[in-house]
Amino acid sequence: MAIEYREWRDGDDLALLEIWGGPETAQARQFRGALAVSSNGGNGAPWRRCIVAEDVVDGVGIPVAAGVVYEASLHPERLWTYIEVAKDHRRSGIGATLLAMLRREAGHAPSGVTKLRAKVEPGTPGAAFADAAGLAPIQRSRLVVVEPGALKLPVFPDKDHGGRPIDGENAGSDVVMDLATGSVELTDVVGRYYTAIHGWDSPGVLSVGQVQKLFLDELTGAHGAIVLRAQPESAFGQGVAPSKKGRIRAFAVSYAAPAGPDDAPGAEASPAGDTPTDVFVGHEPTLDADDAAEAVRDMLALIAYQHPVMLELDDSMTALRAAVEPLLAGGKARLAGAETLVVSD
Ligand SMILES: CC(C)(COP(=O)(O)OP(=O)(O)OC[C@H]1O[C@@H](n2cnc3c(N)ncnc32)[C@H](O)[C@@H]1OP(=O)(O)O)[C@@H](O)C(=O)NCCC(=O)NCCS
Repeated sequence: MAIEYREWRDGDDLALLEIWGGPETAQARQFRGALAVSSNGGNGAPWRRCIVAEDVVDGVGIPVAAGVVYEASLHPERLWTYIEVAKDHRRSGIGATLLAMLRREAGHAPSGVTKLRAKVEPGTPGAAFADAAGLAPIQRSRLVVVEPGALKLPVFPDKDHGGRPIDGENAGSDVVMDLATGSVELTDVVGRYYTAIHGWDSPGVLSVGQVQKLFLDELTGAHGAIVLRAQPESAFGQGVAPSKKGRIRAFAVSYAAPAGPDDAPGAEASPAGDTPTDVFVGHEPTLDADDAAEAVRDMLALIAYQHPVMLELDDSMTALRAAVEPLLAGGKARLAGAETLVVSD
């Protein structure tokens, strides 16, 4: 086996797809798309270095492996990396050589950032390789489906804050509200929540526009949002109708089902025959831990009352874990697909 290394060229993706076959893991499916021609960055393109390993047989090189390292504007404190080696060429050091070459390239990243980060699935060759390379887990992420009716619906007061009775149908109408996905108030809490749960890998400073683009605009598939508010309080005390809404305690954004063959693994129908709706659930990050856990649990109860929902649960999402982990343990929620580890040096 004579292995030679060179820069990635257009067309390598097709040659490698033929040798590699379909992606082994969700991470491979996600990151194969990052294998592309190297770039010095600028004009919205990230700095990227991509290397191909060819097996040279009778003077003809056949691509068998590739690796990439690139900068990211979201979570800029680390560089993403991904390496893949054809199955019949593994365990002969090609992956380790690619990683060493990528590390050398990373030493010249214009941002000055050199720390690497990758996603792997526990128990796979990728995870063993990362471990051997000194890349340790910094986060675990699970896709979870919460089955309908798993949580008890919250009970809302049948009197408003002014002490006037609310008929049964309208109870809660001043605390549970639909909100347009373009809402500034929603964008603000979503952005601050996302930052708060990423203390382990800072997203950097998120502008309103970035938060919209990442979670809320049409291209994300976001098609609705509801919020759970604190009881509105009147500035004039009990008995006087409050003029302001209470502040947001928790939010849920729902997304249209992804189309095509790349459907998320959990998108298959629940035992009830219902396809889970993708949701992003979070809370006002300044709430204390118990309040946040209660707000998130109530929100989950509301959105998963009749239909299943699917959400990404990172270990750093303390309040959401408090709501979801007992459901996982009790069989009222299930994992949709394998866990993902973000590993880093
Ligand atoms: C991960 C991957 C790139 C490794 O490529 P490779 O060329 O086989 O890796 P190397 O031969 O350089 O292995 C280096 C070390 O990693 C560890 N390692 C790699 N694969 C392993 C496996 N299947 N089981 C246990 N340890 C493993 C070993 O310590 C190995 O050293 P050794 O062979 O001397 O024991 C390859 O398995 C792959 O393409 N997997 C699918 C894509 C993926 O998950 N990429 C990881 C994201 S960065």
